[in-house]
Amino acid sequence: MKIAVLVSGSGTNLQTLIEQLHQDETSGIEIAVVISDRRKAYALKRAKRAGIPTHVVKTQDFENRVDFDTEISNIIEHYAAELVVLAGFMKLFQPPFVQKYQNRIINVHPTLLPAFPGAHPVADTLAYGVKITGVTVHFVDENVDTGPIIAQSTVPVLDTDDEESLHNRIQVEEHKLYPKVIKWYAQGKLKVEGRKVILR
Ligand code: GAR
Repeated sequence: MKIAVLVSGSGTNLQTLIEQLHQDETSGIEIAVVISDRRKAYALKRAKRAGIPTHVVKTQDFENRVDFDTEISNIIEHYAAELVVLAGFMKLFQPPFVQKYQNRIINVHPTLLPAFPGAHPVADTLAYGVKITGVTVHFVDENVDTGPIIAQSTVPVLDTDDEESLHNRIQVEEHKLYPKVIKWYAQGKLKVEGRKVILR
């Protein structure tokens, strides 16, 4: 199965997907293209190093966000990617894009959703003072971090944590969970029933 991975930043999740899926021939999963909305995203270097085609699509180059989404969709179609994998991609899609790829866009988020959605999830987690947090992998719907949850894993919050130390421990779990979920998807093991995702 061909997938498109969308990034904005460092790309540690992308790196894991390259190593655990793309470079493992037994996985049956190929990263056909990596798309970034930031030219300077380090993730682009990781993709190039692995010989994966890259595209940069910046919101500033389009009159509106629907046109931005359309350009991304054109690239996804060009590479015949069946699944859109958001890996630290920090832009929201407009409803036409989400509808076109219904149950074909997944995201990884560094909290136990529905707690702490949005752009500063780890800082919000620490500020609130919860003792347990974690990782959520979910399908993307038209709102922010609200789509059906596929899988979660937990991470304890330590009294000594700052944003960096907590995020680093959360990312260790992201790197285990995200490849596993993508394999389930590729194997046709995920069934969406309303808000519930059943693992068959
Ligand atoms: C990841 O921790 C991911 O959970 C988070 O961005 C980070 C990207 O790291 N995503 C979100 O917060 C989405 N709302 P990476 O570039 O090293 O993979």
